[in-house]
Amino acid sequence: MRTVTTRAALTTALAQLPRPVGLVPTMGALHDGHAALVTAARAEQASVVLSIYVNPRQFGNPADLAAYPRTLEADAQRAAAAGVDLLFLPDDSEIYPPAVEVATMEPGPLALRLEGAARPGHFAGVATVVSILFDLVAPEVAYFGEKDAQQVRVVEWLAERRTPPIRIRRVATVREGDGLAMSSRNARLSPAARRAASAIPQALAAVKSLHANGERRVDLLNDAAIRTIGAEPSLTLDYIDLADDVTLLPLGASAHLSDAASGRVLVSIAASIEGVRLIDAITLRA
Ligand code: PAF
Repeated sequence: MRTVTTRAALTTALAQLPRPVGLVPTMGALHDGHAALVTAARAEQASVVLSIYVNPRQFGNPADLAAYPRTLEADAQRAAAAGVDLLFLPDDSEIYPPAVEVATMEPGPLALRLEGAARPGHFAGVATVVSILFDLVAPEVAYFGEKDAQQVRVVEWLAERRTPPIRIRRVATVREGDGLAMSSRNARLSPAARRAASAIPQALAAVKSLHANGERRVDLLNDAAIRTIGAEPSLTLDYIDLADDVTLLPLGASAHLSDAASGRVLVSIAASIEGVRLIDAITLRA
């Protein structure tokens, strides 16, 4: 694996890589979820580029940015072991060159609700950095995890509008033994909070199990998730949301899953514990 830190070195290294290229954009603190993205890219593309850049523009809260885990040495080892060909480790001045006014990218209508509402400016920051990485690497395909379901839809929206368009490949969420979705943020949880956080996948499992038994009423599916999260007092629920999986338009309390025009429903949860915000999502057939 080769490592580059500048735009110029990246361009030179890319010219030597066989196409097609798969890009795995990350903010580091790599875990098995990232490894699954690399494994998919490795199997499908001739070359795999992984970027690590903790993007300040997508953090509204400076404390959250400062607390974001940075584990570069371990990340480089993990990236090499997973099969990355080229590791891109830019600093702020490579992504946002001081002499250039980098325009903020419009993240589009899919960014308005859920995380977009809870974290104003977050998706504009994601869209901006992802667009810059797409410009710099020009991958044929970019790989994103389904845990960040809304991010995947926002990036798909962005990628479809590019010329040539970049294909976005979704990769299934990787979970811990108790179901908690892998996330770089999990490392910030105390053992007690870590145990309590498993109520999030349990809430999604409760929805899934009701759905498997034929339940299609949004209010009842919603209530099952709220009850499961409510049983864990240290968790603060921000939202449980059922929406069309494509448009991300919400299904109201009196709706039925069949009201989702795409035929698929995204069930998303956001909850906080010890000041750490965790998100998770599953999709269901309408
Ligand atoms: O999902 C992430 O790690 C980040 O939001 C991304 C896509 C790398 C952009 O900074």
